[in-house]
Amino acid sequence: MAESADPATPRASLHGQWSSRLAFVLAVAGSAVGLGNIWKFPYVAGQNGGGAFVLIYLLCVFGIGLPIMMAEILLGRRGRRNPITTMALLGREEAGSQRWALVGVIGMACGFLILSFYSVIAGWTLHYMVLAAQDTFAGADAAALGELFGGLVANPWILTGWHTLFMGITIFVVARGVEKGLERAVRIMVPALIAIMLALLGYSISFGGFAEGLDFLFRPDFDALTGSSVLAAMGQAFFSLSVGMGAVMAYGAYLPQEESIIKTSVAVVSADTAIALLAGIVIFPIVFANNLDPAEGPGLVFQTLPLALTKMPGGVFVGTAFFLLLAFAGLTSAISLMEPVVAWLMEGHAMRRGAAALLAGGTIWALGFLTVLSFNVLADLRFLRGTFFDNIDYLTSNIMLPAGGFLITIFAGWVMCSNSSADELDPEAGTVYGLWRVLTRYAAPVAVVLVFLNAIGVLG
Ligand code: TRP
Repeated sequence: MAESADPATPRASLHGQWSSRLAFVLAVAGSAVGLGNIWKFPYVAGQNGGGAFVLIYLLCVFGIGLPIMMAEILLGRRGRRNPITTMALLGREEAGSQRWALVGVIGMACGFLILSFYSVIAGWTLHYMVLAAQDTFAGADAAALGELFGGLVANPWILTGWHTLFMGITIFVVARGVEKGLERAVRIMVPALIAIMLALLGYSISFGGFAEGLDFLFRPDFDALTGSSVLAAMGQAFFSLSVGMGAVMAYGAYLPQEESIIKTSVAVVSADTAIALLAGIVIFPIVFANNLDPAEGPGLVFQTLPLALTKMPGGVFVGTAFFLLLAFAGLTSAISLMEPVVAWLMEGHAMRRGAAALLAGGTIWALGFLTVLSFNVLADLRFLRGTFFDNIDYLTSNIMLPAGGFLITIFAGWVMCSNSSADELDPEAGTVYGLWRVLTRYAAPVAVVLVFLNAIGVLG
């Protein structure tokens, strides 16, 4: 192992720092909390049989995702550059090889792919915001809502319009610099989103299906668990926590030296998980009370929550606010998906922030057409895992993020000198550091490999 360069004076970031620890926590929370919690978690849990999937998901969140989040932040803060340059720099320092930059390159490609579909889905929530405001859900039953959703995704023009608007807003915010506005947006949005979910929870408790919903989510049926659903649970953990591609690493680059990485990570991971579970607890009772199919797929939230909204007092307002807040939660996540590549274009290619955001965002926007068309014109074009959307989703969540996370654990746990990592994580938190190191060196990388092998059937 190469000797650590251990810079006496830590590097400085090239684009300033977060104004406080709270600003950083909120930024990482804004990245983590998004469509992954409210749109994706319930439908993926539904497709994979519920309880046992949820249990594996929780194990992956705390046993794999949490240590990787800490590793990403510590690498980011030590390198103080975009993920590609950071990994090249640290690779040279710690192992005499710049080839570790590959981790950043794969991560950026992964971010492009994720954002290309993420923006389309965020567009759905904007469309539903307008529908809610027009009181479209009034009196609708499950079948009518199914048709409403089917009608939306069948129309590539409408999808393109909202996708374009969402990418435009993302480009605009990233062009202005991520610190501005993010802090205030997240501070208001996340609590407001939780408040509305709690109100919806009241509906789910009182209108039937609650016991059945909880049973589905929390009573593990291990017979229903397959290798591919274990992989889906791990992929969902990476996706929901925003780890494995360098998004959190890019944010870590702006973290002041004295702030605690451990506390930040534990807070964000707990909040993200609580919100995903809350979404499940709200949605599944509605599914069972209305005889819907838990394995309905990507339309699940859009076909369940409006049923609750129509019966609520003030449902028009609450519904409009809910979909608006969800789009906001998506925006703060989208920003983090684009920040690594924008930082890289600025630092390595002397581009201005605005030009970098436009170039990256424009490319991602164009890629988004693969997802737009997956639900209509190209819906019957199926290969490997299904449509283009299915394949991009599978490739990013289930393969690229875990692979990136695996390389990050190898680098932070095995390649990096323990003096360097101990130096970045609170040196005084001895036991916590020891636990992190065990998880990062052994548990997390071994688990990722086992889940991969299990999914391709090698373990029988
Ligand atoms: N975590 C976000 C969500 O749950 C999505 C996201 C943002 C993401 N940044 C990421 C996913 C980086 C993977 C990697 O909606």
